[in-house]
Amino acid sequence: VSTRGWEVYPGSGAEDYFEPAVAITHSDGNPCTILRYVSSEQKDVAGGTETVINLKDDKYPVEVTLHYIAYPKENVIKTWSEIRHNEKKPVALWRYASTMLYFSASDYFLTEFSSDWAKEAQMSSQQLRFGKKVIDTKLGSRAAMHTHPFFELGLGQPVQETQGRVMLGTVGWTGNFQFTFEVDNVGNLRVIPAINPYASTYELKADEVFSTPEFMFTFSNNGTGEASRNFHDWARNHQLKDGQGDRLSLLNNWENTYFKFDQQLLAQLMKEAKALGVDMFLLDDGWFGNKHPRNSDNAGLGDWEAMKSKLPGGIPALVDAAKEAGVKFGIWIEPEMVNPRSELFEKHPDWAITLPNRETYYYRNQLVLDLSNPKVQDFVFGVVDNILTENPEVAYFKWDCNSPITNIYSPYLKNKQGQLYIDHVRGIYNVLKRVKEKYPNTPMMLCSGGGARCDYEALKYFTEFWCSDNTDPIERLYIQWGFSQIFPVKAMAAHVTSWNKRTSVKFRTDVASMCKLGFDLGLKELNANELAYCQSAVANWTRLKKVILDGDQYRLVSPYDGNHMAVMYAAPDKNKAVLYTYDIHPRYAENLLPVTLQGLDAKKMYKVKEINLMPNKKSDLDANEKTYSGDYLMKVGIHAFTANRTFSRVIELTAE
Ligand code: DGJ
Repeated sequence: VSTRGWEVYPGSGAEDYFEPAVAITHSDGNPCTILRYVSSEQKDVAGGTETVINLKDDKYPVEVTLHYIAYPKENVIKTWSEIRHNEKKPVALWRYASTMLYFSASDYFLTEFSSDWAKEAQMSSQQLRFGKKVIDTKLGSRAAMHTHPFFELGLGQPVQETQGRVMLGTVGWTGNFQFTFEVDNVGNLRVIPAINPYASTYELKADEVFSTPEFMFTFSNNGTGEASRNFHDWARNHQLKDGQGDRLSLLNNWENTYFKFDQQLLAQLMKEAKALGVDMFLLDDGWFGNKHPRNSDNAGLGDWEAMKSKLPGGIPALVDAAKEAGVKFGIWIEPEMVNPRSELFEKHPDWAITLPNRETYYYRNQLVLDLSNPKVQDFVFGVVDNILTENPEVAYFKWDCNSPITNIYSPYLKNKQGQLYIDHVRGIYNVLKRVKEKYPNTPMMLCSGGGARCDYEALKYFTEFWCSDNTDPIERLYIQWGFSQIFPVKAMAAHVTSWNKRTSVKFRTDVASMCKLGFDLGLKELNANELAYCQSAVANWTRLKKVILDGDQYRLVSPYDGNHMAVMYAAPDKNKAVLYTYDIHPRYAENLLPVTLQGLDAKKMYKVKEINLMPNKKSDLDANEKTYSGDYLMKVGIHAFTANRTFSRVIELTAE
């Protein structure tokens, strides 16, 4: 019997000539695995139907179970696989894909999302021709620093926003991942999403189940706009932590103070948070460490006790000050990391991932804790647990992760080093599961030196992620455009800062207002008009956040296409919409085209109103305060773009 065909999970060592989904060296040294169909069943699960397909090797006691959950309402499929065996001795598992998808089309175009610090989610496209294209990362932690775990595929043509056959896929794995795209000898495309097997041959014991990460994908015949909305809906309904819940606006102190603050200054900033009208004050890095105080990034990480010199009253005094100011209090942690200059490292040098017989390489003066070690897992859980046990009113965590794994060796795993990259990530999930079980209602922001962690497994435990340290509003238009392909803006934290001060406070705020809004600047940086503007922008955002965070997003004009950008959100009942338009760098005497809207009810009449205006400034929008049919707005549109540089408008549409 030929093993070739329209396989879903190709084995290795036999008649398959392309990349395998699974590869095992059996305990007798035989490198071949051939899986055949045994049975399948279907059952209803929350939001959809799960299909389970059982496969078995007929010569070796190896079984693979393929899982597919189809969510018909959102048109998303989630798939993962389980590998197990019953051989006498452990087997060496060296390929373990989540799934394999097989496409047949005239041409294939891949859009990938490359990244770096302050350069997240940069989109670029290329045609896939015969052979392989691999996107992967070997960074261990901070794993998506150079590329993100998602992609888009255009069938027959490059992806477009409102037309064409597209598939969007993403793997839920907060570690090394790999996507292999292989166009084979007959012109079909194999897509294999997986944990990156690099340096990760896994010794699988008998009856141990190796569960792969989940791979989520969606398909649309109408371009990436619809496909993204599928993911947004699915995430809010089924995957994102507290996907249906509210989100807190906040004032962060990182860019304002860096490590230089004390209790008094923080109490002052909490009052500023209140004055702005945001829900919460978020204390960033630099609040801990006594023997090795955290006054710069070279000491203290690991010693999670409030620094007495800066904060004599500890966290309780900060919680009290926040209460007095009338805002909630959130706090920054980076619990998976350690500075060698810390009491933690002095006590437990073997808890850090470090290579013997080599000079240690430090990234940001720190090392990654070995989360494959259950004792380390307990410690990391304790960081959150201790803070919340002593201060139940702490309302929020920003959980950072600034270093990749730089010296890949686990003192705990000893002669099983091949498992470190995988068991480390599983260890993180063990911790996050415990945190979520004990504190199900505490929102947390996932941060990784900007947006180097952004995947749908982590987002089961985090309500949002930090998109980038780059808050230059022009750069943010691109970064937010990129992330919104896969994630709802409800999960995307965006702050107003003083990056690119040549742009107005209004422009910066309008850009951040398209996502989960926050601020990271001191009010002393704002003049009276700007402060009044920010207060009204916060009030508008709060009033409209149901539409922005829970509505349907339509990306109207791409910053990649020229000198403008426009995005809108429509409430599911189509009675309210918010439109954001941006002029980035218009050309001289450019023909300014109207922005045609989407997602409205053609038959309804909408009142157009420009909001987020600077005090004493009147709208110069032609359509302002006028009423148009949804049909007109979607076919003719409104002239919202201007010839000004870095100019923005926020426009509210209300059905009459
Ligand atoms: C990196 C994060 O992206 C920043 O927002 C800030 O929290 C710093 N780390 C603090 O060290």
